[in-house]
Amino acid sequence: MMKVWTKLALMCVLSSVAMANTTTLVQTMRDMENGLSNVQKGFLYNNPVLIKEGVDAIHAANTLFNNMDETKKFLPKEKQHLSNVALNASKRINTASTNLLKAVEKKQFSKASQSYSELVNACTACHGVVRGW
Ligand code: HEC
Repeated sequence: MMKVWTKLALMCVLSSVAMANTTTLVQTMRDMENGLSNVQKGFLYNNPVLIKEGVDAIHAANTLFNNMDETKKFLPKEKQHLSNVALNASKRINTASTNLLKAVEKKQFSKASQSYSELVNACTACHGVVRGW
């Protein structure tokens, strides 16, 4: 049987790993939010450079969910069986934002704005899993 101190030390390590995960997640979601705001502002102010910056920020933040195991880590325990849905949402974010940018580069802003909606829906799909919406 493990000694009490060993158990306590293990608990400290595990909880600090959990806290590090939380910090990473919160920072990543801030980056996502900031990127999304810039994309939206880019549309509103007719500023393609801002759209591009926003998409780049979202792409970078989205690398947090590279694969199933990585994605699982950031979901609450009771939602981890839905990590495939979460991972799928993350993939949709990459696809939608890449399509968005391609359309902007061709000056097809109406098409780009449809990809923007798809992008927001993909954020909501993962939040729906996490929050039980
Ligand atoms: C793979 C899952 C996943 C995807 C995709 C995702 N999020 Fe999140 N998001 C989370 C989790 C987990 C939390 C933390 C739990 C909560 O807030 O319910 C969170 C929380 C947030 C928060 C609140 C952070 C806080 O400090 O309270 C914001 C803002 C946010 N996400 C923005 C976004 C945006 C914008 C996108 C899309 C570009 C996005 N998220 C895509 C999983 C995801």
